[in-house]
Amino acid sequence: MKKIYIGMSADLLHPGHLNIINEARKLLDKEGGGELIVGLLTDKAIASYKRLPYMNWEQRKTVIENVKGVTQVVAQETLDYVPNLLKIKPDFVLHGDDWKTGVQAQTRQRIIDVMSEWGGKVIDIPYTEGISSTKLNKVLKEVGTTPEVRSYRLKRLLDSKDIVTICEAHNGLSGLIVENANIVEDNKKIEFDGIWISSLTQSAAKGKPDIGYLDTTSRMETLNDILEVTTKPIIYDGDNGGPQEHFVFTVKTLERLGVSAIIIEDKIGLKKNSLFGTEVFQQQDTPEDFAQKIKAGKQAQVTDNFMIIARIESLILEQGMDDAVLRAKTYLEAGADGIMIHSRQKTFDEIKEFAKLYNRLPDRKPLVVVPSSYNQVTEQELIDNGINIVIYANHLLRAAYPAMLNTAKSILKNHRCKEASDNYCMKINDIITLIPGAK
Ligand code: SPV
Ligand code: MG
Repeated sequence: MKKIYIGMSADLLHPGHLNIINEARKLLDKEGGGELIVGLLTDKAIASYKRLPYMNWEQRKTVIENVKGVTQVVAQETLDYVPNLLKIKPDFVLHGDDWKTGVQAQTRQRIIDVMSEWGGKVIDIPYTEGISSTKLNKVLKEVGTTPEVRSYRLKRLLDSKDIVTICEAHNGLSGLIVENANIVEDNKKIEFDGIWISSLTQSAAKGKPDIGYLDTTSRMETLNDILEVTTKPIIYDGDNGGPQEHFVFTVKTLERLGVSAIIIEDKIGLKKNSLFGTEVFQQQDTPEDFAQKIKAGKQAQVTDNFMIIARIESLILEQGMDDAVLRAKTYLEAGADGIMIHSRQKTFDEIKEFAKLYNRLPDRKPLVVVPSSYNQVTEQELIDNGINIVIYANHLLRAAYPAMLNTAKSILKNHRCKEASDNYCMKINDIITLIPGAK
């Protein structure tokens, strides 16, 4: 009885996958029968080198185990085939021959070497032209997403990644940047996991101070612009959530739209941006009243996916570490799905100390940080300290403003726009074709 092993993600099953499976069936028939084992990459394995798949592992397993010829589906926990190969010792590994060149060539060679230990062989199946998961993914992105799929994505990311990276967007255009910006590093595609709807940048983009002046309708309008052009999960900055009677409506509205989480801060009175710290009058809510608001929000939500994350302002307002930790405990007991701890210190020290204490709490939930002032901290240091979500809360707007100001000054100075166009602007043709569908 021969064993054939095929590793795949099988998120968007297409004729290319079926061709490899058919070739495996033919080979088994020729060899007198045996097992066709699919090593199905886990969400975590896929997230280690590219975007999370659309379907979760269980859903993908249901699809692939019902494909004719597949006799067994096992989890492939790493991008690397070798741990599974050593366990299973298959006679053959089949793969599309596109892996003979480019970044996958090394992976292939390693598999050939390992398989030779027990006389196993790698067989390259001619690549099916005209269709690929990359092409399908692109089309799917253009089609968009549904509120359910989008909202559930944050929890899936938290389960699959060491740290979830979130970047601010304040309109459709910046939303597109967070959605699409990517780099390739060590053969891995790196991109942001989700979008932060910041009260600071949304207010500033409308020429308003961050004092809770924008009403919910106005904030939802911007949110909708971003929802329309993106598929990534969204975390909404809810300031202090407003009165409890209003908060329950906000929760339902965001949930209906497919937002994954709201973060509310434990402050009362006129809202001031936290980064002012004690330079302005800011008042913290009592832990009991804020816990009550969290409870009301949790009762109001309809699905299990939506997360209410409690933001603790004790360090911002210099109330001490004990107060911060006690509040974390209280808010988790009230049902908070995560804690955001904020700081305006120039170093990571106080957040690190908080994280150490927080990580010891029973039933600890995801921990969120916003390193605007301690910006030297790296994602690896955050991971090492058990932090689960990092929010880059204001950077796209902070980058855009000086660029626009320089351009304006250049026109004023030169009494014409040539210098501004040449030095500071993208090409006219690039802007008119930037958004698909313009021509
Ligand atoms: C925001 O982006 O609006 C935030 C983070 O709430 S901070 O500005 O640091 O308060
Ligand atoms: Mg804010």
